Amino acid sequence: MIKINNLCKSFGKNHVLKGVDILIPEGNITAVLGPNGSGKTTILKILLGLVKPDKGNVFWKQRITHGDYSYRNKIGYLPQIARFPENLRVRELFSMIQDIRQQPSDLEPLLDAFKLRPLLNDRLRHLSGGTRQKINTVLTFMFDNDLFILDEPTAGLDPVAMIQLREIIARKQKEGKTILFTTHIMSLVQEMAQQIIFLLDGRIYFQGSVQELQKLHGEHNVERAIARILEVNEHEGVLDSVQPTASTL
Ligand SMILES: Nc1ncnc2c1ncn2[C@@H]1O[C@H](COP(=O)(O)OP(=O)(O)OP(=O)(O)O)[C@@H](O)[C@H]1O
Ligand SMILES: [Mg+2]
Repeated sequence: MIKINNLCKSFGKNHVLKGVDILIPEGNITAVLGPNGSGKTTILKILLGLVKPDKGNVFWKQRITHGDYSYRNKIGYLPQIARFPENLRVRELFSMIQDIRQQPSDLEPLLDAFKLRPLLNDRLRHLSGGTRQKINTVLTFMFDNDLFILDEPTAGLDPVAMIQLREIIARKQKEGKTILFTTHIMSLVQEMAQQIIFLLDGRIYFQGSVQELQKLHGEHNVERAIARILEVNEHEGVLDSVQPTASTL
């Protein structure tokens, strides 16, 4: 469904992406992993046309996206840092987004799932970080989309909200939707992702299934397998000489 070819992006002297190729199959849950600053958010923003790559292309259903952003109508995006109009009340934000999208929405059940009804009249600037993330999540899932891009969706969520998030992701996948997310919570990856893309030093170090990652490093636990990759690289010190270890696509 989404193909990314030879993506390169630098911010000044900071070469963040040095030729990244990714294939995201339809109906799959894909986790993009990598250390802080490895370029996960940058890739997601390039996919959405919010950041322009220096080189490379994004294809959506075999069509190059460059210059035509209509494909974004089929995407639900949860940004890593949500910026809301702070003086609005929660209910005003939801109705504003409904007005803009002009599509049927799933708002009501999502308000119950995240227990947001008592807060509908509160102003956004008074809300806690976790509550803002719940609102961010509702905004992402309230419309029917083909693809959901979630940048650190678990940030700040309490365990009850985490369970709701997992359930929504699983439900969307059952409906045939594609999910792409970044996270530092490896239990979420182990439980939900069919494909892992691991970024290191501007390149894809690993692309494959959770089972392949586990097999490769003799670790049952994804967190340990990832830690092992980072340890090995720190030890070898020459990231560019490390061969990508698996690619199933
Ligand atoms: N607009 C920008 N201008 C300058 N540098 C940027 C910009 N956006 C990102 N960067 C830099 O690009 C690198 C990759 O950033 P990015 O946000 O993609 O990382 P990330 O993998 O999402 O990290 P995290 O795990 O902390 O969310 C970082 O070094 C960051 O400072
Ligand atoms: Mg990020």
